[in-house]
Amino acid sequence: MIVLGIETTCDETAAAVVERSVQGRGRILSNIILSQVSEHAAFGGVVPEIAARAHVEALDLIIAKAMAQAGCSFDHVDGVAAAAGPGLIGGVIVGLTTAKAIALVKQKPLIAINHLEAHALTARLTDGTPFPYCLFLASGGHTQVVAVRAVGDYVRIGTTVDDAIGEAFDKTAKLLGLGYPGGPQVEKEAAAGNAARFALPRPMHGRKDADFSLSGLKTALRLEAEKIAPLTDQDVADLCASFQQAVVDVVLDRLRAGLRMFRAQYGAPSALVAAGGVAANQAIRKVLQRLALEVGSTLVAPPLELCTDNGAMIAWAGCERLALGLIDSLDVAPRARWPLDEIAAAKGKLQRTAAYK
Ligand code: KG4
Ligand code: ZN
Repeated sequence: MIVLGIETTCDETAAAVVERSVQGRGRILSNIILSQVSEHAAFGGVVPEIAARAHVEALDLIIAKAMAQAGCSFDHVDGVAAAAGPGLIGGVIVGLTTAKAIALVKQKPLIAINHLEAHALTARLTDGTPFPYCLFLASGGHTQVVAVRAVGDYVRIGTTVDDAIGEAFDKTAKLLGLGYPGGPQVEKEAAAGNAARFALPRPMHGRKDADFSLSGLKTALRLEAEKIAPLTDQDVADLCASFQQAVVDVVLDRLRAGLRMFRAQYGAPSALVAAGGVAANQAIRKVLQRLALEVGSTLVAPPLELCTDNGAMIAWAGCERLALGLIDSLDVAPRARWPLDEIAAAKGKLQRTAAYK
């Protein structure tokens, strides 16, 4: 089975072709990503209108490149998948409409993918991870602990009550005058800093639930920075190191609670799976490794280019759904908001492949 996947929910225009064997193993035939980072950098964040226009301009070429690199034509693919949300609605419309056009002209099934579901299923593409597993999804827009029980069966165990972890990294970077996106910059600065210099809070520490809160940490960092302004290079490095250490401690405590909740409800997870751009952070990876060991499990952390937004994860989620006959009609709507655990509830609405043909 071969599926074309299209991703346009944020600031990456991406397309990929992925193959799924009858045994359920995945193989990436192509994975093309065009980052818009330089177009948004001057604004210190993603500007929705600029993103949507950039997707319109680039998507056709990115898809053509993905098809060429995979060595196949639209006639060869078994389905066309696109991220239908959640995300910046202008970009989502561009990707989903393009997928609909291809599906209509080539008479192929359309698979509308929840972007979060694609992150959640990536471990099965890279490592063939069996269900159920515990997903830690941490990106610029999301911070979630999820029980992944089957395709379309996701239970959110914990989430952030305010900022996402990636957002906290980005805001910290902005505050300290570092570039965008902030995560990699903060990590780089932190390597040369003293993590013990500033006593920052560990929000939600010790709570029984697995929820996160990041906005207080960010505010505390701002107050510390204001106290010692103007900042030297060493101050910036120390602030970054102290911030990153606080996040690492928060992740350890909150995810430990999440894993406890997972085990109580669903038994031992087959793995702890990391996804989202924040999983690129080495200090966070290390603490996830430690947590996985603690619960007698293993950490599955996809390669960096598959942790951040990409087309291959959309194509793979398309494969997983198509294999189960889960496809969508051409009038499926793009969605700015689309919680992961709503997918199970919506399952009844999905049609069978047979009905489509
Ligand atoms: O998953 P992603 O590519 O896009 C979405 O937000 O969906 O994640 C991007 C986020 C940004 O907030 C970025 O600052 C963060 O992931 N990030 C990192 C690192 N690399 C990317 N955060 C911490 N450390 C990193 N090395
Ligand atoms: Zn993402």
